[in-house]
Amino acid sequence: MAFAFIQSSLAKRQQQHILRKRTLVDSSAGAMMTVDGSHYINFSGNDYLGQRQNMAVMQAWVDGISEYGVGSGASPLVTGHTRAHDELECYLAQNLGREKALLFNSGFAANQALCQALLHKDSLVVSDKLMHASFIEGAMHSNSAYTRFNHNDLNHLSHRLKDKKADTLVATEGVFSMDGDQGKLSEMSQLCTHNNAWLMVDDAHGIGVFGSRGLGSVEALGLSQHQVPIVMGTFGKAIGTAGAFIAGSANLIDYLINFAKHYVYSTAMPPALASATLASFKQIQDGEQQTKLHNHISLFTTLCKQAGIKVMPSTSAIQPVLMGNPEACLEASLRMRELGLWVAPIRYPTVPKGQDRLRITLSASHHQSDIEALVDVLQLVLPVHDVKS
Ligand SMILES: Cc1ncc(COP(=O)(O)O)c(C=O)c1O
Repeated sequence: MAFAFIQSSLAKRQQQHILRKRTLVDSSAGAMMTVDGSHYINFSGNDYLGQRQNMAVMQAWVDGISEYGVGSGASPLVTGHTRAHDELECYLAQNLGREKALLFNSGFAANQALCQALLHKDSLVVSDKLMHASFIEGAMHSNSAYTRFNHNDLNHLSHRLKDKKADTLVATEGVFSMDGDQGKLSEMSQLCTHNNAWLMVDDAHGIGVFGSRGLGSVEALGLSQHQVPIVMGTFGKAIGTAGAFIAGSANLIDYLINFAKHYVYSTAMPPALASATLASFKQIQDGEQQTKLHNHISLFTTLCKQAGIKVMPSTSAIQPVLMGNPEACLEASLRMRELGLWVAPIRYPTVPKGQDRLRITLSASHHQSDIEALVDVLQLVLPVHDVKS
């Protein structure tokens, strides 16, 4: 039978308790969501600042539609690039201290585009082991030499850079998507400058969450274009919309406009989405939502400490609890669901074997009582050895 692997791959996943299924969400408002008629507090979304339903952002989307229609109608190099796109790109570049920025339809596409356009058979790419799949896949499918360094390990990175080439790209994340900890960006940028390598930061989970204007980890650390030549960020998480950007030198962006196939041969993002995204960035500038989020993060970590619940070290919105095997992870998640809390079980192969976890995410749209309920429920569902008596 042709493509017989389809059936056997699914059967194998089922057997290993790692078969993926989608959840049909009936509705969601703030941190609440309804599935099959039941209401849950959502601790699994990436809407860290509650921007998805911000009135000004929704209004900007509507205004954008009345100005441009619902879609861009063409790829950016044909007639799909509008003033709405340009304004967002300029805002990002200016506020990040970069010469230019370029929009993509998703973070996945941005990372793939970067790897496809920049890496070649004589280049070297070195990434953190925990880098997101969108980058790893891109690097693996390029002709470049590709190695990885142990998570956040500067010595190991330095060792990897012994084989550096004229074109060497080092890639890491501002905030790691599954662990919630932060990349050692300042130290890495020094190492890269010393080795004449370019540092690329995927800040999908840092944008909005860090930085005085919500421009993420690179803004928070004050790292210049020279120190971090490539910044990638996404809009589908703290910004509450969808899409992504790459920011850097004018030459880099002009090069991507000419050679990044995911940009050239893809319909431009809807202009109304660009308008809503810009409105969201402007809305978070005052820091109010960011402060709420960080208060929730401190409340959660403090309550967990008091209750003896082990959470992985993180000061970001991502607060994982390690479970160690897929069955325990799934069971804890289902029990939390019975008690009205939605926490996704993250299992192999999304995370390494034995590191299955409850990936708890916090948002400015939670209430203090939601966080208190979360810690109460964790105490009930976690195996005894995960909670100090
Ligand atoms: C670190 C990281 N990079 C890139 C992406 C892809 O972004 P998008 O969801 O916009 O495709 C994600 C998505 O989860 C991510 O976590």
